[in-house]
Amino acid sequence: MAFTLPDLPYAKDALAPHISSETLDFHHGKHHNAYVNNLNGLVEGTDMASKSLEDIIQDTAGKADKAGIFNNAAQIWNHTFYWQSMRPNGGGAPTGKLAEMIDRDFGSFDAFKDAFAKAGATQFGSGWAWLVLADGKLDVRKTLNAETPLTEAGVTPLLTMDVWEHAYYLDYQNRRPDYISTFLDHLVNWEFAAENLAAA
Ligand SMILES: [Fe+2]
Repeated sequence: MAFTLPDLPYAKDALAPHISSETLDFHHGKHHNAYVNNLNGLVEGTDMASKSLEDIIQDTAGKADKAGIFNNAAQIWNHTFYWQSMRPNGGGAPTGKLAEMIDRDFGSFDAFKDAFAKAGATQFGSGWAWLVLADGKLDVRKTLNAETPLTEAGVTPLLTMDVWEHAYYLDYQNRRPDYISTFLDHLVNWEFAAENLAAA
């Protein structure tokens, strides 16, 4: 098989009580795994089977006849990025260059949190909220379904939050804003965002 499901970067119960092991069982073990199986089925026997996930995403973005391949490839990438965007005992505030840039580009850390929470809460239907580096400045994005800022020229994703219902429904039912505030207060992995910023 060309693509495999990456392991979670922590134990399945490590994010409890904020995200339960039951949610991760379904979200990683069923949903993320299904995207991997779907993509393998779609690229089997084609020249895409030997390409990187990132190349497949770039090559198929915006092409209606390749939407199935794009959706599954981007969802694999987005989910792997999302698992790393959280950690046990996460939350709090970033430090160093990332903290300075958040103050510079959003005005304050609280203003960033408001902008990020608003992006997640106002993404109608399924999608993602992102912190990105766009042409040297930090910014927030929201994307629909499998869409990802990875395909935007000059943009580097630093952090993401899944706002598909499957990310929070077992733990929060319809209360997406509660999931978002918990993500920011208890789960967000600022070290991961800082690593992505340093590598950009
Ligand atoms: Fe998801």
